[in-house]
Amino acid sequence: MDIIETLNAAGQQELIAKLESLSGDARKNLERDIATQDWEELKALYTEKSNASLDDNVSGELKPMPFKIATDDLRYDFWKETGEILLGKGQVAAFLVAGGQGSRLGFDGPKGMFDIGLPSHKSLFQLQAERLQNLAAQVGHAIPWCIMTSPLNHEATVNFFTEHNFFGYARENIRFFDQGTICALDPNGKAVVDENNRLALVPDGNGGCFRALAQSGTLAWLIEKGVRYVFLYSVDNALCRICDPAFVGALASEGRSMSASKVVHKAGPNEKVGIFALQNNKPGVVEYSDLPENYRDMTNADGSLTFDGGNIAIHLFKTEGLRKLQTSKLPWHTARKTVCGIEKCWKFEQFLFDAFPQLGTMMPFGVVREEEFSPVKNAEGNDSPKTAREMIGRLHREWLRKAHVEVKPGKLYEVSPTLSYAGEGLSRRVFERELGRNILEFDEE
Ligand code: UTP
Repeated sequence: MDIIETLNAAGQQELIAKLESLSGDARKNLERDIATQDWEELKALYTEKSNASLDDNVSGELKPMPFKIATDDLRYDFWKETGEILLGKGQVAAFLVAGGQGSRLGFDGPKGMFDIGLPSHKSLFQLQAERLQNLAAQVGHAIPWCIMTSPLNHEATVNFFTEHNFFGYARENIRFFDQGTICALDPNGKAVVDENNRLALVPDGNGGCFRALAQSGTLAWLIEKGVRYVFLYSVDNALCRICDPAFVGALASEGRSMSASKVVHKAGPNEKVGIFALQNNKPGVVEYSDLPENYRDMTNADGSLTFDGGNIAIHLFKTEGLRKLQTSKLPWHTARKTVCGIEKCWKFEQFLFDAFPQLGTMMPFGVVREEEFSPVKNAEGNDSPKTAREMIGRLHREWLRKAHVEVKPGKLYEVSPTLSYAGEGLSRRVFERELGRNILEFDEE
């Protein structure tokens, strides 16, 4: 079918008219945009979503998914050592999903370039690069780092890394690749065209990561290198313990599961995080906004929340699992947003956590929020640069306290990830040597 026939069949006559009004490069560009889209799928999506009374809601019975805090488990040290051995054999890679638009933060650029205001003024990308390199040095093997961008932020991301000499990361161990995009539709299901006569293409959600990893050749690159475990994380968690050996070791030694996910106790019924639950006996995540009130507020006999397992978007996949997911169809979620000045447009996206039911069993791995989860979502208030600075400052002060350093009251500390990956290697001697260099002191705000 040629492009006109395809658009006709999809009810996109306005787009045909627009295309036919253009010539030269403008026409070629729009044609190229059109060719990236699956018009049949877009039509079906619009029909399905515009006829649904409630989008993305929960159907069937939900059961809680119990989890334990991993550091309380007697096997923790064994898991950690197992993970270190696997990292040392080059079997573990990091996978950063960084194709989001970061609209809530309001920063003009890829979120990973953002400086959360630590005394070192390191960007999120730099903190991550240093943490990974420290771990790689400890285990004695480079860690491949896959970075998914979107066509909207790819160039800026790659330029930033290039300008900073990849923060010391060996270039051959990093792969940048784009996620897919999907066209926004107006309230009547017609493709939105912007003022430059280009389609209004938006990233297809972090669930596009499985397709993008495979289609870009990155999954094959990892398999070729002998990688068997892929640690997937978001760009904005300032406390993320990337490629955490204990997490890797737990999945490797405990299970038949294709994946594991880090879980925290929810801060309260109204905290805006998805929760892990069994839906129709399959493990998955239910978004905060989709969780019916009766489940949200349900408590156990001791008063604790029944649906208590908060998703912090840190997952580990076996490569067999990723192979399976490359062709699987994840559901589409919708949001009604203003696009190119048109109100209530349809934006479609896939969520990576919808992959879990397709993989069967999943291993929850409980972690302590204060040690591992500080998302930078908003410019101010909750989950902001200020809360991230404070959480890092307090955690690193705790690391120093445990190393018998007499920290000053009212002071917070930033320990460089080049000095310590997760609190190890600190002492009074190291503190004296490094204060003002790799250990910086700052005031509580
Ligand atoms: P968020 O859900 O916080 O979305 O992404 P966001 O786009 O970064 O921010 P807002 O909602 O516009 O404020 C969680 C993680 O998923 C990635 C983000 O980059 C972040 O690491 N993501 C999100 C993608 O990689 N692609 C997407 O299409 C969406």
